[in-house]
Amino acid sequence: MNAIVPPSPPPPHAGEAVAIAAERRWAIIVGIIIAMLVGMMIVTGLHWAAMPPSRVETVDVKTLHLNGEFIESNLGTTMVDGKVTVRLIAQQYSFIPQCIVVPAEIPVTFRGTATDAIHGFVVGRTNANTMLVPGFVATFTTTFSKTGEQLMPCHEYCGTGHEAMWGRVQVLPPDEFLAKARGGERLTCVPR
Ligand code: CUA
Repeated sequence: MNAIVPPSPPPPHAGEAVAIAAERRWAIIVGIIIAMLVGMMIVTGLHWAAMPPSRVETVDVKTLHLNGEFIESNLGTTMVDGKVTVRLIAQQYSFIPQCIVVPAEIPVTFRGTATDAIHGFVVGRTNANTMLVPGFVATFTTTFSKTGEQLMPCHEYCGTGHEAMWGRVQVLPPDEFLAKARGGERLTCVPR
């Protein structure tokens, strides 16, 4: 009489266990990589959202008019060592200076900030365009290709006078600008 021997299970497939372990390991590694990338997106997104576009320089709003780069006598256009820089301030509801002189075909660096609320400006149809945020220095460099006068409206809603807040930019031919700027003094086209 023979006892019925149940068929023994097939020998475990050694390769399968190794493959499952390897896949699980890779799934964990890929999961960590995805989590890191999403984390980076969130951190940099929040960081950039909390800063104005140029975001590198801060300035004390309370002493803006008393000392430093943005005192009134330092606003306007200067040329130092061949570099043209425009400094301006935005406040409710005007720009200082109200009329800015720049050359055509020469790179111009704008440096600006705001005293009270968030303002901004765009120069005509050029790519000169930035926000001006209290406490921060906004800066960019651009080259104007065409001469002539451009309007420079405030383009961030800053209060009841927002729509009346604008300045003008006079783009001069390079030689005319260089002749005026040679003295090294600060230029504006604000009528005196
Ligand atoms: Cu200043 Cu709108």
